[in-house]
Amino acid sequence: MAEASGVRMAPGNGENSYATNSRLQEKAILETRPVLSKAIEEVLSTCDSTMVVADLGCSSGPNTLLVVSEVIGAIRAYTKKADDTRGVEVQFFLNDLPGNDFNFVFRSLEYYHNLGGGKDTPPYYVAGLPGSYYRKLFPRRSVHLFHSSYSLMWRSKIPPELSSCTHLNEGNIYIGKTTPPIVIKMFQEQFQKDFELFLTLRSRELVNGGRMLLTFLGRKSEEMLMHGDVATAFEWVSISLQSLVQKGRVEKEKLDSFNLPYYAPSVKEVNALINKNALFDIDHVKLSESTWDPLDDSEDDTVLDCANSGANIAKCIRAVLEPLIVDHFGEDIIEELFMVHASTVAKHLEIAKAKYPIIMVSLKKGMD
Ligand SMILES: C[S@@+](CC[C@H](N)C(=O)[O-])C[C@H]1O[C@@H](n2cnc3c(N)ncnc32)[C@H](O)[C@@H]1O
Repeated sequence: MAEASGVRMAPGNGENSYATNSRLQEKAILETRPVLSKAIEEVLSTCDSTMVVADLGCSSGPNTLLVVSEVIGAIRAYTKKADDTRGVEVQFFLNDLPGNDFNFVFRSLEYYHNLGGGKDTPPYYVAGLPGSYYRKLFPRRSVHLFHSSYSLMWRSKIPPELSSCTHLNEGNIYIGKTTPPIVIKMFQEQFQKDFELFLTLRSRELVNGGRMLLTFLGRKSEEMLMHGDVATAFEWVSISLQSLVQKGRVEKEKLDSFNLPYYAPSVKEVNALINKNALFDIDHVKLSESTWDPLDDSEDDTVLDCANSGANIAKCIRAVLEPLIVDHFGEDIIEELFMVHASTVAKHLEIAKAKYPIIMVSLKKGMD
């Protein structure tokens, strides 16, 4: 069965690639360091000398190997602290959908291996694993740690009633100001199905006491319409596409039939599904906020240069959405679309700084 979502990041390492435009995601990976270290310490204190780690939705670019290096760093620190002489070895699996630029990952890996990593680096082995994490990926009880960053808000598919155009989300590409309640419910139900399936599959694949560290985009409140701050970024893309419709560059029907396979849940929704299935104990859950401008590290609410910040945000959204947009609308509109998008974002930034919520959840599998 072909993968239905079509999701993949812009390949390679050119100006508009994901590899060049993934600093937001890098910051999020670095922020999880203490929670990741704790999960690794707990796994290492119970496993034998081989640890199996899988990164789900690894994409291609510096972040893919940053996860590998963060895990190795945590193992190295634990081994030193606990004076562990077992000679721990690590098997990594880097997972993404088959459309991911795995060739780029493998080429970067060669360079990474050559760096050596220092004398305390545990022996490690890295394999690519193409396939959807909404399907079985591993044998039963074979993985010690699942890691996933900025991926689980992507759905396995667009809700079927939307992809078949039985229902329309006119003028929007996600949950926007004018999305009908029935369509919002479809996005939400797709999330519930996907997330429950994900938990069930991973709990089979984890060893008893195994861990999962998941970071994904969410929303702060239970508010549905516009879906909290996170939908704002997609609303800007919708507005930009609407302006191309007005110019006659895009057919209205094309826009009305384009929806993102996406859903940003609230912490309450996430907790409810984890507790409903009782497959995992929640060790840690946290909601934080990030600015949309990947180059803005300031804590305050001022935007110094709206045009510049708008261009930064447009690049980062483009690296994520370009392949899906090209699949549906064709290549011709891309440059124009993201120029309009950058100025749409800049106008918004004159009113308010753009931020979005991130959910981090660390889970432990009980005995089965
Ligand atoms: C925004 S990127 C995040 C990449 C990386 N983890 C990071 O933090 O930079 C999201 C990744 O999730 C992948 N993805 C989305 N749905 C997936 C699925 N069902 N199975 C595996 N990977 C998926 C996408 O292809 C994409 O590479």
